Amino acid sequence: MIKQAIIPLAGLGTRLLPLTTVFAKELLPINGKPGIEYILDECIEAGIKEVVFIISKKKMSIKDYFYSDSFYKKIIKKKKDPRIINEYKKILKYKKIIRFVYQNKPLGTGDAVLKTKKIVKDKFFLMLLPDDLIIKKNCSKSMIDIHNRYKTSVMACMNVSKKSVSRWGIFKLGKKINKKNYYIKDVIEKPSVVNAPSNKAVIGRYILPKTIFSKLSKQKSGKGGEVHITDAIQKLIFENSKFIAHNFSGKYLDCGSMNGYINSTLEISKS
Ligand code: G1P
Repeated sequence: MIKQAIIPLAGLGTRLLPLTTVFAKELLPINGKPGIEYILDECIEAGIKEVVFIISKKKMSIKDYFYSDSFYKKIIKKKKDPRIINEYKKILKYKKIIRFVYQNKPLGTGDAVLKTKKIVKDKFFLMLLPDDLIIKKNCSKSMIDIHNRYKTSVMACMNVSKKSVSRWGIFKLGKKINKKNYYIKDVIEKPSVVNAPSNKAVIGRYILPKTIFSKLSKQKSGKGGEVHITDAIQKLIFENSKFIAHNFSGKYLDCGSMNGYINSTLEISKS
């Protein structure tokens, strides 16, 4: 069973400037609700019991959002508004399952994952990248089903245009399991168009093995000077750890870029 999820939230959000000078990008509203709540709802619906937020001192507003009890209590005492009472109940439900760890220097996703080493208990855990929203079908739930069946690591996969490969982690796929699932032979972080083994990209949902921590603790920084989770995954694959690429059925929304962020509200309001 996958019971724990981790969410790296210490990123600076430079692609969404100027919105992110004073706001954490994960709290920006998407159709009237902070982006991070969509991610939490996906986790809860997929049966996750504990969510680890990796934040930084600069992003304490994320913790404040879930710890505004006295604010809510004061308002509810004065005015018994059922809508506000429900919102507070929702926040309490989230708060119960969230814990926080800190990554004060933005050294990359791999470094963020390493901060959860002492907290992750089981052999496998889920990681969600908050920039990547997937609507219409719960991607984490589908991936957990695959994990339960094949007892392997799983990563979300989507076809992208050939010219955009250098924006993503790119898979080299091996044996086909069925229409939606393939074993992964290799994964390369942001390759150039000529070096890309395919146009199949990593999207931000991962079921990772606990063994990744020993790889990460030895790993040097890679592309752009960051410690990438992709590089640690590549090492595990080369040592024969089984990873499956899952071509998810939901609709992907890239909330980390300005155009994608604007579009995500339109898409969610339609659905
Ligand atoms: C990260 C990963 C990359 C993946 C992408 C999905 O990149 O490093 O492999 O394809 O998320 O959104 P980032 O968006 O942090 O540049």
